[in-house]
Amino acid sequence: EKGAYPYYMLKEIDEQPGVMRNLIEHYIAEDGSIKIDEKLLAALNQAQRLYIVAAGTSYHAGLVGKELFERLTNIPTEVHVASEFAYNPPLLAEHPFFIFLTQSGETADSRQVLAQVNEWDYPSLTITNVANSTLSREATHTLLLYAGPEIAVASTKAYTGQIALEAILAKAMGQKKGIKKATEFDVAKELTFVANGMQALVDGKAQIEEIAKDVLATTRNAFYIGRSIDYDIAQEAALKLKEVSYVQTEGFASGELKHGTIALIEKDTPVIAIITDEKTAKHTRSNTQEVLARGARVIYIASRQLATAGDQIILPEVHPLLTPLLAIIPCQLLAYYTSLQRGYDVDKPRNLAKSVTVE
Ligand code: M6R
Repeated sequence: EKGAYPYYMLKEIDEQPGVMRNLIEHYIAEDGSIKIDEKLLAALNQAQRLYIVAAGTSYHAGLVGKELFERLTNIPTEVHVASEFAYNPPLLAEHPFFIFLTQSGETADSRQVLAQVNEWDYPSLTITNVANSTLSREATHTLLLYAGPEIAVASTKAYTGQIALEAILAKAMGQKKGIKKATEFDVAKELTFVANGMQALVDGKAQIEEIAKDVLATTRNAFYIGRSIDYDIAQEAALKLKEVSYVQTEGFASGELKHGTIALIEKDTPVIAIITDEKTAKHTRSNTQEVLARGARVIYIASRQLATAGDQIILPEVHPLLTPLLAIIPCQLLAYYTSLQRGYDVDKPRNLAKSVTVE
């Protein structure tokens, strides 16, 4: 029940610190050991390559997952949109392992790929919020998000839940392989920092509402830009704004703008820059200069340690692999408040259903 909340989407945004804590409780023991089936970890670690298959927001959680799996386990990882994989699968490695990310566990495009994977007789894992869902039943293994029901059509807490669980899984896999980066990654501690950071961000929602009113309430289009892990966040942030506020939004690799898309920048076009990745921060900042010179209104969402004077939204400092978990919160709130500004039913955007059970 949404109780005192006007909409489920806001309730679900606010629940995200609790989702992090639930995952810690379910998957990490007091002594720091990770409670994931050894057989699953062994099967994953035997893979030559991981294939993450998903749709929509879950696909975007997969993009971040690729960073986590590659950096903590050294296993090459590909991320695929399920509807594309279905009719044009890539050339597979000799020992593939498939990871399906799906909030509902019922998405037809993902089910279709899993049916094919089962025919090929390859091992699979479904990460889902719904126990006994079709994708859970049909995969070799399941890990649950324990995020509580997600009612709003726009997915919020499932995205952050999926990323956090991928982090826990990647840590367990890498640790088992003796990879130093994984052994040193204290995932329970880091996710606790994330939960606290999320709480600070949702508590600061009034500021985000003001930015939405000021910058997004009447705009025709908008851009989210970033590089590396910040590009992954930009893509999810753009989907959020599109689906609930109907603002045409692109999530774009900031370095790629100048190769054509920058032609779309006009006076007052909102460009929201995500800056959490140390290696690329200054490059994204120089890309914002290019759009500023063409009249764009730039909003910066930056991690505290990378922030400079004038940045509007500052994110508490967390482990560099977990910054998407914080950066997405103001983006979800921007989408929510923009939708309200425009007078839409934010929980039930036009043309969309909560789970897409048709191909
Ligand atoms: O239930 P799933 O995670 O498989 O759903 C995938 C997409 O349909 C879903 O993420 C959709 O894009 C949402 N509307 C995003 O907010």
